[in-house]
Amino acid sequence: MRRGALICYADLAFGKEETAVLTDMRTETTKVLREAILRAFSDFPLEGLPGPEALETPPDATLGDYAFPCFRLSKTLRMAPPAIAQALAQAVDAPEVATAQAVGGYVNFFFNRLNFARLTLDSIMTAGERYGGCADAGKTAVLDYSSINIAKRFHIGHLSTTVIGHSLKRIYRHLGWKTVGINHLGDWGTQFGRMIAAFKRWGSWEMVEAGGVDALTALYVRFHQEAEENPALEDEGRGWFRKIEEGDPEALETFQRFKDLTLKDASRVYDILGVTFDSYNGEAFFNDKMGRVIDELREKNLLSESQGALVVDLEEYRMPPCLIVKSDGATLYATRDLAAALWRKDNYHFDKALYVVAYQQNLHFQQVFKVLELMGYPWAKDEMEHVAFGMVSYEGQAMSTRQGNIIYLDELLTRAREKALDIIREKSPELEDPEDVASQVGVGAVVFTTLLNNRIKDIDFWWDRALNFDGDTGPYTQYTHARCASVLRRARQNGAEPDIGALTNDEAQAVLRALARFPEAVRAAQKGNEPSEVTRATLDIAKAFNKYYYEQRILDDDPAKTRARLDLVRAVKHVIALGLYLIGVRAPEAM
Ligand code: ARG
Repeated sequence: MRRGALICYADLAFGKEETAVLTDMRTETTKVLREAILRAFSDFPLEGLPGPEALETPPDATLGDYAFPCFRLSKTLRMAPPAIAQALAQAVDAPEVATAQAVGGYVNFFFNRLNFARLTLDSIMTAGERYGGCADAGKTAVLDYSSINIAKRFHIGHLSTTVIGHSLKRIYRHLGWKTVGINHLGDWGTQFGRMIAAFKRWGSWEMVEAGGVDALTALYVRFHQEAEENPALEDEGRGWFRKIEEGDPEALETFQRFKDLTLKDASRVYDILGVTFDSYNGEAFFNDKMGRVIDELREKNLLSESQGALVVDLEEYRMPPCLIVKSDGATLYATRDLAAALWRKDNYHFDKALYVVAYQQNLHFQQVFKVLELMGYPWAKDEMEHVAFGMVSYEGQAMSTRQGNIIYLDELLTRAREKALDIIREKSPELEDPEDVASQVGVGAVVFTTLLNNRIKDIDFWWDRALNFDGDTGPYTQYTHARCASVLRRARQNGAEPDIGALTNDEAQAVLRALARFPEAVRAAQKGNEPSEVTRATLDIAKAFNKYYYEQRILDDDPAKTRARLDLVRAVKHVIALGLYLIGVRAPEAM
Protein backbone atom coordinates (compact mmCIF):
# COMPACT_ATOMS: atom_id res chain seq x y z
CA MET A 1 0.00 0.00 0.00
CA ARG A 2 2.85 2.30 0.72
CA ARG A 3 3.80 3.61 -2.63
CA GLY A 4 0.23 3.76 -3.90
CA ALA A 5 -0.96 5.63 -0.86
CA LEU A 6 1.89 8.02 -1.18
CA ILE A 7 1.07 8.90 -4.72
CA CYS A 8 -2.52 9.32 -3.77
CA TYR A 9 -1.33 11.52 -0.97
CA ALA A 10 0.67 13.66 -3.30
CA ASP A 11 -2.28 14.09 -5.61
CA LEU A 12 -4.45 15.09 -2.73
CA ALA A 13 -1.92 17.35 -1.15
CA PHE A 14 -1.12 19.22 -4.29
CA GLY A 15 -4.47 19.10 -5.89
CA LYS A 16 -5.37 16.83 -8.78
CA GLU A 17 -7.12 19.78 -10.29
CA GLU A 18 -3.82 21.51 -10.76
CA THR A 19 -3.02 19.01 -13.45
CA ALA A 20 -6.16 20.03 -15.30
CA VAL A 21 -5.00 23.59 -15.50
CA LEU A 22 -3.18 24.34 -18.66
CA THR A 23 -0.26 26.30 -17.36
CA ASP A 24 0.70 27.39 -14.00
CA MET A 25 4.24 27.92 -12.99
CA ARG A 26 3.40 26.88 -9.47
CA THR A 27 2.21 23.58 -10.85
CA GLU A 28 5.65 23.01 -12.28
CA THR A 29 7.21 23.82 -8.98
CA THR A 30 4.75 21.76 -6.97
CA LYS A 31 5.48 18.79 -9.19
CA VAL A 32 9.12 18.91 -8.27
CA LEU A 33 8.36 19.59 -4.63
CA ARG A 34 5.87 16.79 -4.64
CA GLU A 35 8.44 14.34 -5.90
CA ALA A 36 10.91 15.54 -3.33
CA ILE A 37 8.35 15.09 -0.58
CA LEU A 38 7.44 11.67 -1.92
CA ARG A 39 11.06 10.64 -1.70
CA ALA A 40 11.32 12.04 1.78
CA PHE A 41 8.25 10.12 2.87
CA SER A 42 9.02 6.88 1.14
CA ASP A 43 9.75 5.15 4.44
CA PHE A 44 6.48 6.03 6.08
CA PRO A 45 3.15 4.29 5.75
CA LEU A 46 0.49 6.97 5.40
CA GLU A 47 -3.17 6.90 6.18
CA GLY A 48 -5.70 9.63 6.83
CA LEU A 49 -4.07 11.93 4.37
CA PRO A 50 -4.48 15.67 4.34
CA GLY A 51 -6.36 17.35 1.51
CA PRO A 52 -5.33 19.69 -1.31
CA GLU A 53 -5.21 22.65 1.00
CA ALA A 54 -2.02 21.19 2.50
CA LEU A 55 0.29 23.53 0.65
CA GLU A 56 -0.10 27.06 1.88
CA THR A 57 1.06 30.46 0.76
CA PRO A 58 2.70 32.11 3.76
CA PRO A 59 1.28 35.47 4.79
CA ASP A 60 4.57 37.18 4.11
CA ALA A 61 7.28 36.53 1.57
CA THR A 62 10.06 36.35 4.17
CA LEU A 63 8.52 33.05 5.27
CA GLY A 64 8.98 31.57 1.85
CA ASP A 65 6.92 31.14 -1.28
CA TYR A 66 5.22 27.99 -0.07
CA ALA A 67 4.75 26.48 3.33
CA PHE A 68 3.96 22.88 4.06
CA PRO A 69 2.32 22.35 7.46
CA CYS A 70 3.19 19.03 9.07
CA PHE A 71 0.62 19.03 11.88
CA ARG A 72 -1.91 16.77 10.29
CA LEU A 73 0.70 14.15 9.48
CA SER A 74 1.82 13.97 13.06
CA LYS A 75 -0.78 11.40 14.09
CA THR A 76 -0.18 9.07 11.16
CA LEU A 77 3.56 9.28 11.42
CA ARG A 78 3.64 9.28 15.23
CA MET A 79 6.11 12.10 15.18
CA ALA A 80 5.98 15.66 16.48
CA PRO A 81 5.33 18.20 13.69
CA PRO A 82 8.70 19.97 14.12
CA ALA A 83 10.48 16.64 13.79
CA ILE A 84 8.60 15.87 10.57
CA ALA A 85 9.40 19.34 9.28
CA GLN A 86 13.10 18.82 10.07
CA ALA A 87 13.20 15.44 8.34
CA LEU A 88 11.36 16.77 5.35
CA ALA A 89 13.45 19.92 4.97
CA GLN A 90 16.60 17.82 5.01
CA ALA A 91 15.26 15.31 2.55
CA VAL A 92 14.05 17.83 0.02
CA ASP A 93 16.91 18.15 -2.33
CA ALA A 94 15.99 20.24 -5.34
CA PRO A 95 18.08 23.42 -5.26
CA GLU A 96 17.24 24.20 -8.86
CA VAL A 97 13.64 24.63 -7.75
CA ALA A 98 13.60 25.64 -4.14
CA THR A 99 15.37 25.44 -0.85
CA ALA A 100 13.58 24.15 2.22
CA GLN A 101 13.74 25.39 5.76
CA ALA A 102 12.03 23.92 8.80
CA VAL A 103 10.39 26.47 11.08
CA GLY A 104 8.38 24.93 13.88
CA GLY A 105 5.88 22.54 12.36
CA TYR A 106 6.26 24.03 8.89
CA VAL A 107 8.58 23.45 6.02
CA ASN A 108 9.04 26.74 4.23
CA PHE A 109 10.08 26.60 0.63
CA PHE A 110 11.96 29.39 -1.08
CA PHE A 111 11.90 29.32 -4.81
CA ASN A 112 15.11 29.48 -6.72
CA ARG A 113 14.73 33.03 -8.02
CA LEU A 114 16.24 32.50 -11.43
CA ASN A 115 14.22 29.42 -12.10
CA PHE A 116 11.07 30.98 -10.73
CA ALA A 117 11.41 34.02 -12.98
CA ARG A 118 12.11 31.90 -16.03
CA LEU A 119 9.21 29.51 -15.44
CA THR A 120 6.72 32.23 -14.63
CA LEU A 121 7.50 34.28 -17.72
CA ASP A 122 7.58 31.16 -19.89
CA SER A 123 4.25 29.90 -18.70
CA ILE A 124 2.60 33.27 -19.26
CA MET A 125 4.09 33.53 -22.72
CA THR A 126 3.13 30.00 -23.71
CA ALA A 127 -0.37 30.19 -22.30
CA GLY A 128 -1.16 33.58 -23.79
CA GLU A 129 -4.88 34.26 -23.57
CA ARG A 130 -5.32 31.04 -21.65
CA TYR A 131 -3.06 31.90 -18.75
CA GLY A 132 -4.65 30.55 -15.58
CA GLY A 133 -7.29 28.91 -17.68
CA CYS A 134 -8.21 25.55 -18.99
CA ALA A 135 -8.96 24.28 -22.48
CA ASP A 136 -12.09 22.26 -21.86
CA ALA A 137 -13.58 21.32 -18.54
CA GLY A 138 -16.38 19.37 -20.23
CA LYS A 139 -18.93 21.04 -17.99
CA THR A 140 -21.78 23.47 -18.33
CA ALA A 141 -22.73 26.32 -16.03
CA VAL A 142 -26.05 28.11 -16.24
CA LEU A 143 -25.89 31.63 -14.84
CA ASP A 144 -29.02 33.56 -13.98
CA TYR A 145 -28.05 37.23 -13.62
CA SER A 146 -29.29 40.75 -14.11
CA SER A 147 -32.83 39.37 -14.43
CA ILE A 148 -34.50 42.76 -14.58
CA ASN A 149 -38.16 43.51 -14.15
CA ILE A 150 -40.28 44.72 -17.04
CA ALA A 151 -41.43 48.32 -17.02
CA LYS A 152 -38.86 49.33 -14.44
CA ARG A 153 -35.90 51.44 -15.34
CA PHE A 154 -32.48 49.92 -14.76
CA HIS A 155 -31.19 51.28 -11.46
CA ILE A 156 -28.14 50.59 -9.32
CA GLY A 157 -30.04 47.91 -7.41
CA HIS A 158 -29.40 45.70 -10.44
CA LEU A 159 -25.78 46.73 -10.94
CA SER A 160 -24.17 44.01 -8.80
CA THR A 161 -26.11 41.09 -10.23
CA THR A 162 -25.30 42.29 -13.72
CA VAL A 163 -21.57 42.71 -13.28
CA ILE A 164 -21.03 39.74 -10.94
CA GLY A 165 -22.90 37.42 -13.30
CA HIS A 166 -21.08 38.76 -16.34
CA SER A 167 -17.71 38.31 -14.66
CA LEU A 168 -18.52 34.80 -13.44
CA LYS A 169 -19.52 33.86 -16.93
CA ARG A 170 -16.13 34.98 -18.24
CA ILE A 171 -14.31 33.22 -15.39
CA TYR A 172 -16.13 29.92 -16.00
CA ARG A 173 -15.46 30.20 -19.70
CA HIS A 174 -11.81 30.86 -19.03
CA LEU A 175 -11.73 27.65 -17.03
CA GLY A 176 -13.13 25.72 -19.95
CA TRP A 177 -16.80 25.57 -18.99
CA LYS A 178 -19.61 26.01 -21.42
CA THR A 179 -21.83 28.76 -20.11
CA VAL A 180 -25.42 29.84 -20.58
CA GLY A 181 -26.20 33.37 -19.44
CA ILE A 182 -29.85 33.89 -18.65
CA ASN A 183 -31.69 37.12 -18.08
CA HIS A 184 -34.65 35.66 -16.18
CA LEU A 185 -36.97 38.56 -16.88
CA GLY A 186 -39.50 39.60 -14.28
CA ASP A 187 -42.31 39.68 -16.82
CA TRP A 188 -45.13 38.16 -14.90
CA GLY A 189 -47.56 39.51 -12.34
CA THR A 190 -50.85 41.29 -11.81
CA GLN A 191 -49.14 44.67 -12.06
CA PHE A 192 -48.88 44.18 -15.81
CA GLY A 193 -52.66 43.91 -16.08
CA ARG A 194 -52.93 47.24 -14.27
CA MET A 195 -50.36 48.73 -16.58
CA ILE A 196 -52.34 47.75 -19.66
CA ALA A 197 -55.49 49.14 -18.11
CA ALA A 198 -53.72 52.42 -17.45
CA PHE A 199 -52.27 52.46 -20.93
CA LYS A 200 -55.70 51.89 -22.48
CA ARG A 201 -57.20 54.75 -20.51
CA TRP A 202 -54.51 57.40 -20.61
CA GLY A 203 -51.65 56.25 -22.75
CA SER A 204 -50.68 56.00 -26.40
CA TRP A 205 -47.83 54.41 -28.30
CA GLU A 206 -46.42 57.82 -29.25
CA MET A 207 -46.28 58.68 -25.60
CA VAL A 208 -44.53 55.52 -24.40
CA GLU A 209 -42.19 55.29 -27.38
CA ALA A 210 -41.07 58.82 -26.64
CA GLY A 211 -40.97 58.53 -22.86
CA GLY A 212 -39.64 54.97 -22.62
CA VAL A 213 -39.83 53.06 -19.40
CA ASP A 214 -40.37 56.26 -17.45
CA ALA A 215 -43.65 56.77 -19.29
CA LEU A 216 -44.77 53.27 -18.31
CA THR A 217 -43.88 53.92 -14.71
CA ALA A 218 -45.80 57.18 -14.79
CA LEU A 219 -48.86 55.36 -16.09
CA TYR A 220 -48.57 52.86 -13.31
CA VAL A 221 -48.29 55.54 -10.65
CA ARG A 222 -51.35 57.28 -12.07
CA PHE A 223 -53.27 54.02 -11.98
CA HIS A 224 -52.62 53.71 -8.25
CA GLN A 225 -53.61 57.28 -7.53
CA GLU A 226 -56.84 57.08 -9.47
CA ALA A 227 -57.69 53.61 -8.16
CA GLU A 228 -57.95 55.06 -4.67
CA GLU A 229 -60.91 57.14 -5.83
CA ASN A 230 -62.19 54.66 -8.35
CA PRO A 231 -61.89 51.03 -7.12
CA ALA A 232 -63.47 49.75 -10.34
CA LEU A 233 -60.08 50.33 -11.94
CA GLU A 234 -58.68 47.37 -10.03
CA ASP A 235 -61.25 45.14 -11.75
CA GLU A 236 -60.10 46.49 -15.06
CA GLY A 237 -56.51 45.67 -14.16
CA ARG A 238 -57.44 42.16 -13.08
CA GLY A 239 -59.39 41.74 -16.29
CA TRP A 240 -56.38 42.61 -18.42
CA PHE A 241 -54.16 40.33 -16.42
CA ARG A 242 -56.59 37.46 -16.98
CA LYS A 243 -56.43 38.26 -20.68
CA ILE A 244 -52.65 37.98 -20.61
CA GLU A 245 -52.98 34.65 -18.84
CA GLU A 246 -55.52 33.41 -21.35
CA GLY A 247 -53.34 34.46 -24.25
CA ASP A 248 -55.62 37.17 -25.62
CA PRO A 249 -53.79 38.59 -28.68
CA GLU A 250 -54.33 42.25 -27.87
CA ALA A 251 -53.20 41.86 -24.29
CA LEU A 252 -50.17 39.83 -25.30
CA GLU A 253 -49.15 42.22 -28.00
CA THR A 254 -49.44 45.24 -25.77
CA PHE A 255 -47.44 43.53 -23.10
CA GLN A 256 -44.83 42.38 -25.59
CA ARG A 257 -44.33 45.98 -26.63
CA PHE A 258 -43.85 47.00 -22.99
CA LYS A 259 -41.24 44.30 -22.78
CA ASP A 260 -39.46 45.38 -25.94
CA LEU A 261 -39.39 48.92 -24.65
CA THR A 262 -37.84 47.88 -21.35
CA LEU A 263 -35.23 45.73 -23.04
CA LYS A 264 -34.36 48.47 -25.48
CA ASP A 265 -33.75 50.74 -22.52
CA ALA A 266 -31.73 48.12 -20.67
CA SER A 267 -29.66 47.22 -23.68
CA ARG A 268 -28.16 50.71 -23.66
CA VAL A 269 -26.70 49.84 -20.29
CA TYR A 270 -25.74 46.32 -21.36
CA ASP A 271 -23.92 47.71 -24.39
CA ILE A 272 -21.94 50.16 -22.30
CA LEU A 273 -20.97 47.38 -19.90
CA GLY A 274 -20.35 44.83 -22.66
CA VAL A 275 -22.79 42.45 -20.98
CA THR A 276 -24.54 39.81 -23.08
CA PHE A 277 -27.02 36.98 -22.55
CA ASP A 278 -27.79 33.71 -24.25
CA SER A 279 -31.42 33.66 -23.20
CA TYR A 280 -34.12 36.06 -22.07
CA ASN A 281 -36.53 33.36 -20.96
CA GLY A 282 -38.08 34.88 -17.89
CA GLU A 283 -41.04 34.20 -15.69
CA ALA A 284 -43.64 34.39 -18.45
CA PHE A 285 -41.81 31.78 -20.50
CA PHE A 286 -42.77 29.24 -17.87
CA ASN A 287 -46.52 29.92 -17.98
CA ASP A 288 -47.25 26.75 -19.89
CA LYS A 289 -44.71 24.74 -17.92
CA MET A 290 -46.28 25.01 -14.48
CA GLY A 291 -48.62 22.05 -14.83
CA ARG A 292 -45.72 19.66 -14.77
CA VAL A 293 -44.41 21.06 -11.50
CA ILE A 294 -47.76 21.02 -9.78
CA ASP A 295 -48.59 17.50 -11.01
CA GLU A 296 -45.23 16.21 -9.98
CA LEU A 297 -45.48 17.78 -6.54
CA ARG A 298 -48.91 16.23 -6.12
CA GLU A 299 -47.73 12.79 -7.27
CA LYS A 300 -44.84 12.92 -4.88
CA ASN A 301 -47.21 13.81 -2.05
CA LEU A 302 -45.52 17.06 -1.31
CA LEU A 303 -48.50 19.39 -1.67
CA SER A 304 -50.73 20.32 1.20
CA GLU A 305 -53.60 22.76 1.45
CA SER A 306 -53.44 25.82 3.59
CA GLN A 307 -56.28 28.37 3.58
CA GLY A 308 -57.23 27.40 0.06
CA ALA A 309 -53.67 27.66 -1.23
CA LEU A 310 -51.34 24.83 -2.19
CA VAL A 311 -48.05 24.79 -0.37
CA VAL A 312 -45.06 22.56 0.32
CA ASP A 313 -44.64 22.30 4.03
CA LEU A 314 -41.06 22.95 5.10
CA GLU A 315 -41.50 23.12 8.84
CA GLU A 316 -39.18 20.19 9.32
CA TYR A 317 -36.45 22.29 7.76
CA ARG A 318 -37.32 25.36 9.80
CA MET A 319 -38.62 27.34 6.92
CA PRO A 320 -42.03 28.81 6.20
CA PRO A 321 -44.10 26.83 3.68
CA CYS A 322 -43.25 27.33 0.01
CA LEU A 323 -46.34 28.77 -1.69
CA ILE A 324 -47.07 27.00 -5.00
CA VAL A 325 -50.62 27.98 -6.02
CA LYS A 326 -52.61 30.83 -4.48
CA SER A 327 -56.25 30.35 -3.49
CA ASP A 328 -57.32 32.15 -6.69
CA GLY A 329 -55.35 29.62 -8.76
CA ALA A 330 -52.44 31.91 -9.58
CA THR A 331 -48.92 30.52 -9.47
CA LEU A 332 -46.06 32.30 -7.77
CA TYR A 333 -42.47 33.41 -8.18
CA ALA A 334 -41.30 30.19 -6.51
CA THR A 335 -43.47 27.99 -8.75
CA ARG A 336 -41.84 29.63 -11.74
CA ASP A 337 -38.38 29.11 -10.35
CA LEU A 338 -39.16 25.42 -9.81
CA ALA A 339 -40.33 25.10 -13.39
CA ALA A 340 -37.31 27.04 -14.61
CA ALA A 341 -34.88 24.81 -12.70
CA LEU A 342 -36.36 21.63 -14.18
CA TRP A 343 -36.47 23.12 -17.65
CA ARG A 344 -32.87 24.30 -17.46
CA LYS A 345 -31.70 20.92 -16.24
CA ASP A 346 -33.52 19.18 -19.10
CA ASN A 347 -32.34 21.58 -21.76
CA TYR A 348 -28.85 22.57 -20.71
CA HIS A 349 -27.82 19.53 -18.63
CA PHE A 350 -25.95 21.87 -16.35
CA ASP A 351 -23.28 20.83 -13.89
CA LYS A 352 -23.82 24.05 -12.06
CA ALA A 353 -26.70 26.50 -11.90
CA LEU A 354 -25.98 29.87 -10.34
CA TYR A 355 -28.48 32.49 -9.28
CA VAL A 356 -26.85 35.86 -8.87
CA VAL A 357 -29.50 37.56 -6.76
CA ALA A 358 -29.40 39.89 -3.72
CA TYR A 359 -29.27 38.29 -0.28
CA GLN A 360 -32.82 39.51 0.42
CA GLN A 361 -33.90 36.45 -1.55
CA ASN A 362 -31.93 33.98 0.59
CA LEU A 363 -35.06 32.35 1.94
CA HIS A 364 -36.67 32.12 -1.48
CA PHE A 365 -33.75 30.14 -2.88
CA GLN A 366 -33.40 27.97 0.21
CA GLN A 367 -37.04 27.04 -0.21
CA VAL A 368 -36.80 26.40 -3.94
CA PHE A 369 -33.67 24.26 -3.58
CA LYS A 370 -35.21 22.31 -0.71
CA VAL A 371 -38.41 21.61 -2.62
CA LEU A 372 -36.39 20.32 -5.59
CA GLU A 373 -34.42 18.12 -3.25
CA LEU A 374 -37.64 16.76 -1.75
CA MET A 375 -38.85 16.08 -5.27
CA GLY A 376 -35.92 13.69 -5.53
CA TYR A 377 -33.43 15.81 -7.45
CA PRO A 378 -30.12 15.50 -5.66
CA TRP A 379 -28.54 18.01 -8.05
CA ALA A 380 -30.51 20.74 -6.35
CA LYS A 381 -28.19 20.37 -3.41
CA ASP A 382 -24.97 19.66 -5.26
CA GLU A 383 -25.22 21.84 -8.29
CA MET A 384 -27.42 24.82 -7.52
CA GLU A 385 -26.14 27.84 -5.78
CA HIS A 386 -27.55 31.16 -4.77
CA VAL A 387 -24.75 33.64 -5.36
CA ALA A 388 -25.90 36.34 -2.98
CA PHE A 389 -24.55 39.86 -2.69
CA GLY A 390 -24.96 42.93 -0.51
CA MET A 391 -26.69 46.24 -1.08
CA VAL A 392 -25.40 49.25 -2.94
CA SER A 393 -25.80 52.69 -1.48
CA TYR A 394 -24.75 55.89 -3.15
CA GLU A 395 -22.57 58.48 -1.43
CA GLY A 396 -23.76 57.35 1.97
CA GLN A 397 -27.45 57.13 1.12
CA ALA A 398 -29.44 53.96 0.72
CA MET A 399 -31.47 53.82 -2.44
CA SER A 400 -35.17 54.00 -1.88
CA THR A 401 -37.91 53.84 -4.46
CA ARG A 402 -40.38 55.35 -2.02
CA GLN A 403 -38.35 58.45 -1.28
CA GLY A 404 -37.61 58.90 -4.95
CA ASN A 405 -33.94 58.42 -4.17
CA ILE A 406 -33.17 56.23 -7.15
CA ILE A 407 -29.90 56.16 -9.03
CA TYR A 408 -30.41 55.04 -12.60
CA LEU A 409 -27.62 53.06 -14.10
CA ASP A 410 -27.46 54.88 -17.42
CA GLU A 411 -27.18 58.19 -15.56
CA LEU A 412 -24.52 56.77 -13.27
CA LEU A 413 -22.45 55.54 -16.20
CA THR A 414 -22.82 58.83 -18.05
CA ARG A 415 -21.64 60.70 -14.97
CA ALA A 416 -18.75 58.27 -14.66
CA ARG A 417 -17.64 58.98 -18.21
CA GLU A 418 -17.93 62.75 -17.75
CA LYS A 419 -15.97 62.74 -14.54
CA ALA A 420 -13.30 60.51 -16.02
CA LEU A 421 -13.08 62.85 -19.01
CA ASP A 422 -12.45 65.84 -16.74
CA ILE A 423 -9.65 64.02 -14.95
CA ILE A 424 -8.07 62.74 -18.15
CA ARG A 425 -8.21 66.14 -19.87
CA GLU A 426 -6.35 67.56 -16.93
CA LYS A 427 -3.80 64.77 -16.52
CA SER A 428 -3.05 63.99 -20.15
CA PRO A 429 -4.11 66.88 -22.36
CA GLU A 430 -2.34 65.45 -25.39
CA LEU A 431 -4.10 62.05 -25.28
CA GLU A 432 -5.69 60.82 -28.49
CA ASP A 433 -9.38 60.00 -28.40
CA PRO A 434 -9.96 61.11 -24.79
CA GLU A 435 -13.70 60.33 -25.01
CA ASP A 436 -13.09 56.67 -25.66
CA VAL A 437 -10.50 56.40 -22.91
CA ALA A 438 -12.80 58.27 -20.51
CA SER A 439 -15.54 55.83 -21.28
CA GLN A 440 -13.29 52.86 -20.52
CA VAL A 441 -12.04 54.47 -17.33
CA GLY A 442 -15.38 55.74 -16.05
CA VAL A 443 -17.22 52.51 -16.66
CA GLY A 444 -14.22 50.54 -15.42
CA ALA A 445 -14.24 52.53 -12.19
CA VAL A 446 -17.87 51.60 -11.52
CA VAL A 447 -17.42 47.92 -12.33
CA PHE A 448 -14.14 47.58 -10.48
CA THR A 449 -15.61 49.13 -7.33
CA THR A 450 -18.52 46.74 -7.50
CA LEU A 451 -16.23 43.72 -7.79
CA LEU A 452 -13.47 44.79 -5.41
CA ASN A 453 -14.70 43.30 -2.16
CA ASN A 454 -16.44 40.09 -1.18
CA ARG A 455 -19.76 40.18 -2.88
CA ILE A 456 -21.73 39.72 0.33
CA LYS A 457 -20.46 43.03 1.68
CA ASP A 458 -22.59 46.11 1.19
CA ILE A 459 -21.09 48.67 -1.15
CA ASP A 460 -21.11 52.39 -0.61
CA PHE A 461 -20.35 54.07 -3.87
CA TRP A 462 -18.39 57.32 -3.74
CA TRP A 463 -17.13 59.07 -6.83
CA ASP A 464 -13.84 60.27 -5.45
CA ARG A 465 -13.04 56.79 -4.18
CA ALA A 466 -14.03 54.93 -7.34
CA LEU A 467 -12.16 57.34 -9.60
CA ASN A 468 -9.05 57.77 -7.46
CA PHE A 469 -6.05 57.13 -9.69
CA ASP A 470 -3.97 56.18 -6.65
CA GLY A 471 -6.39 53.95 -4.78
CA ASP A 472 -7.54 50.36 -5.03
CA THR A 473 -9.43 51.23 -8.16
CA GLY A 474 -10.09 50.44 -11.76
CA PRO A 475 -8.39 53.62 -13.00
CA TYR A 476 -5.26 52.77 -10.99
CA THR A 477 -5.10 49.28 -12.47
CA GLN A 478 -5.89 50.53 -15.97
CA TYR A 479 -3.25 53.20 -15.58
CA THR A 480 -0.68 50.54 -14.74
CA HIS A 481 -1.63 48.69 -17.89
CA ALA A 482 -1.24 51.87 -19.93
CA ARG A 483 2.09 52.52 -18.23
CA CYS A 484 3.36 49.09 -19.33
CA ALA A 485 2.15 49.81 -22.85
CA SER A 486 4.00 53.10 -22.83
CA VAL A 487 7.26 51.51 -21.60
CA LEU A 488 7.00 48.94 -24.37
CA ARG A 489 6.36 51.66 -26.95
CA ARG A 490 9.41 53.58 -25.79
CA ALA A 491 11.70 50.55 -25.81
CA ARG A 492 13.87 50.07 -28.84
CA GLN A 493 13.80 46.78 -30.72
CA ASN A 494 16.00 44.51 -28.74
CA GLY A 495 16.97 41.08 -29.98
CA ALA A 496 19.25 40.21 -27.08
CA GLU A 497 18.90 36.96 -25.14
CA PRO A 498 17.23 38.00 -21.88
CA ASP A 499 19.44 37.96 -18.82
CA ILE A 500 17.03 36.67 -16.20
CA GLY A 501 19.53 37.59 -13.53
CA ALA A 502 18.06 41.09 -13.83
CA LEU A 503 14.85 39.79 -12.27
CA THR A 504 16.16 38.30 -9.06
CA ASN A 505 15.85 41.48 -6.99
CA ASP A 506 13.10 41.68 -4.35
CA GLU A 507 10.85 44.03 -6.30
CA ALA A 508 10.91 41.99 -9.49
CA GLN A 509 10.32 38.80 -7.51
CA ALA A 510 7.30 40.37 -5.84
CA VAL A 511 5.89 41.14 -9.29
CA LEU A 512 6.57 37.57 -10.39
CA ARG A 513 4.89 36.17 -7.29
CA ALA A 514 1.80 38.25 -7.99
CA LEU A 515 1.79 37.02 -11.59
CA ALA A 516 2.27 33.41 -10.54
CA ARG A 517 -0.59 33.61 -8.07
CA PHE A 518 -3.05 34.74 -10.72
CA PRO A 519 -4.13 31.23 -11.85
CA GLU A 520 -4.92 30.30 -8.26
CA ALA A 521 -7.03 33.42 -7.93
CA VAL A 522 -9.02 32.51 -11.04
CA ARG A 523 -9.73 29.07 -9.64
CA ALA A 524 -10.64 30.49 -6.25
CA ALA A 525 -12.99 32.92 -7.98
CA GLN A 526 -14.75 30.05 -9.67
CA LYS A 527 -14.89 27.86 -6.58
CA GLY A 528 -16.34 30.57 -4.42
CA ASN A 529 -18.23 32.31 -7.21
CA GLU A 530 -16.33 35.34 -6.08
CA PRO A 531 -15.02 37.64 -8.84
CA SER A 532 -13.28 39.80 -6.22
CA GLU A 533 -10.56 37.12 -6.10
CA VAL A 534 -9.62 38.12 -9.63
CA THR A 535 -10.05 41.84 -8.97
CA ARG A 536 -7.70 41.62 -5.99
CA ALA A 537 -5.14 39.48 -7.75
CA THR A 538 -5.07 41.91 -10.68
CA LEU A 539 -4.75 44.87 -8.34
CA ASP A 540 -1.89 43.11 -6.54
CA ILE A 541 -0.01 42.75 -9.80
CA ALA A 542 -0.49 46.45 -10.50
CA LYS A 543 0.71 47.40 -7.03
CA ALA A 544 3.77 45.17 -7.18
CA PHE A 545 4.61 46.48 -10.62
CA ASN A 546 4.36 50.14 -9.62
CA LYS A 547 6.67 49.50 -6.69
CA TYR A 548 9.11 47.84 -9.07
CA TYR A 549 8.77 50.67 -11.57
CA TYR A 550 9.69 53.29 -9.00
CA GLU A 551 12.60 51.37 -7.55
CA GLN A 552 14.24 49.73 -10.53
CA ARG A 553 15.32 50.98 -13.89
CA ILE A 554 13.77 49.17 -16.80
CA LEU A 555 15.51 50.63 -19.84
CA ASP A 556 19.28 50.90 -19.53
CA ASP A 557 22.43 50.23 -21.52
CA ASP A 558 22.60 46.50 -20.93
CA PRO A 559 20.49 45.00 -23.70
CA ALA A 560 20.25 41.52 -22.13
CA LYS A 561 19.03 42.87 -18.79
CA THR A 562 16.72 45.36 -20.47
CA ARG A 563 15.30 42.55 -22.52
CA ALA A 564 14.51 40.50 -19.40
CA ARG A 565 12.84 43.49 -17.77
CA LEU A 566 10.80 44.16 -20.89
CA ASP A 567 9.66 40.55 -20.83
CA LEU A 568 8.45 41.17 -17.31
CA VAL A 569 6.65 44.35 -18.37
CA ARG A 570 5.02 42.47 -21.24
CA ALA A 571 3.86 39.73 -18.88
CA VAL A 572 2.45 42.27 -16.43
CA LYS A 573 0.58 44.08 -19.18
CA HIS A 574 -0.78 40.82 -20.47
CA VAL A 575 -2.01 39.45 -17.15
CA ILE A 576 -3.51 42.78 -16.04
CA ALA A 577 -5.44 42.94 -19.31
CA LEU A 578 -6.61 39.37 -18.77
CA GLY A 579 -7.63 40.01 -15.17
CA LEU A 580 -9.56 43.13 -16.18
CA TYR A 581 -11.22 41.21 -18.99
CA LEU A 582 -12.37 38.55 -16.55
CA ILE A 583 -14.12 41.15 -14.43
CA GLY A 584 -15.56 42.92 -17.47
CA VAL A 585 -13.29 45.97 -17.52
CA ARG A 586 -11.40 47.24 -20.54
CA ALA A 587 -7.67 47.93 -20.60
CA PRO A 588 -6.63 51.13 -22.41
CA GLU A 589 -3.26 51.31 -24.19
CA ALA A 590 -2.79 54.89 -23.14
CA MET A 591 -4.42 57.16 -20.62
N1 ARG B 1 -36.45 39.72 -11.19
C1 ARG B 1 -35.99 39.41 -9.87
C2 ARG B 1 -35.69 40.68 -9.11
O1 ARG B 1 -35.40 41.68 -9.72
C3 ARG B 1 -34.77 38.55 -9.83
C4 ARG B 1 -34.91 37.21 -10.48
C5 ARG B 1 -33.78 36.32 -10.14
N2 ARG B 1 -33.83 35.06 -10.81
C6 ARG B 1 -34.62 34.04 -10.49
N3 ARG B 1 -34.57 32.96 -11.19
N4 ARG B 1 -35.45 34.12 -9.48
O2 ARG B 1 -35.71 40.69 -7.90
